[in-house]
Amino acid sequence: MEKLPQNKLLDLSGKTAIVTGGAGGIGYGISYRLAEAGASVVIANRTQEVADKAVADLTSKGWHAKAVKTDVSQEQDVMNLIAETKNTYGSIDILVNNAGIFPSIPVMNLTVLDFERILATNLKSVFLCTKYVSQQMITQGKGGKIINITSIDALHPSMVGLATYDASKHGVWGFTKNVALELAPHKIWVNAIAPGGILTPGVQKSMPAAPGVDQNKQLEGFSARIPMRRMGDIDDIGKVALFLASDMSSYMTGSQIVVDGGYLLS
Ligand SMILES: NC(=O)c1ccc[n+]([C@@H]2O[C@H](COP(=O)([O-])OP(=O)(O)OC[C@H]3O[C@@H](n4cnc5c(N)ncnc54)[C@H](O)[C@@H]3O)[C@@H](O)[C@H]2O)c1
Repeated sequence: MEKLPQNKLLDLSGKTAIVTGGAGGIGYGISYRLAEAGASVVIANRTQEVADKAVADLTSKGWHAKAVKTDVSQEQDVMNLIAETKNTYGSIDILVNNAGIFPSIPVMNLTVLDFERILATNLKSVFLCTKYVSQQMITQGKGGKIINITSIDALHPSMVGLATYDASKHGVWGFTKNVALELAPHKIWVNAIAPGGILTPGVQKSMPAAPGVDQNKQLEGFSARIPMRRMGDIDDIGKVALFLASDMSSYMTGSQIVVDGGYLLS
């Protein structure tokens, strides 16, 4: 087996990566590290302006990035994302299924519409992107990497109100393992990252302080349950995604890396 020199292990030059929800939060942390490593990054977000801003930030550093407006729960949008990526960069080597939502709604109040929206955004999207990207990777014949962002909630519930979210993330983890088996003959390696509490716009939106409650205190309380005594940063996940996208993880498929500061131990 070829032994790459250390300075080439993280080199993604010449590769193209799609990052869903790559304009903000954890997705941006991942887009940043992949672009820095030399990949051309295609950011697939629902909102064009947010994606354009992220692309401007990355390209201002001399890196390669492009935005393709995509709702990852819509098959036609995903097909368009694949076509646009192929037309611009010629190939697809890395897919990061990151886009997701986590509204807190007790099951008693959950509507069928809420349930379907959460499953469509978090799970159907992973199926759609995996289906069309793996078809393309198989046609290219040079393998590829698929990284699914699950959650510690794919293993253990973190808080009440997230039953449908937890179902979707358990689903993504099950899907990851089976697809890893199916795609292994094509040298497409499929792994997952399970983040713990990461400070992102999505988390800040989902944790509105009750009247009279200090939001900083609330976050401090949450962090106090984390053995590392801090919430995660988007770069904590970006760095692990780079590891899985690169040759550093050359003998891994069907794995899930927990990145939670030790939260699941507490
Ligand atoms: N932040 C955490 O603590 C945490 C913990 C565990 C898992 N996760 C997972 O990490 C992923 C990212 O979470 P985050 O905290 O960065 O969220 P976020 O809300 O800060 O960012 C999510 C991004 O996804 C985009 N997005 C949402 N729905 C989309 C759709 N249908 N099509 C395209 N783009 C869409 C949003 O526009 C946004 O840019 C999610 O899958 C989430 O479940 C987050």
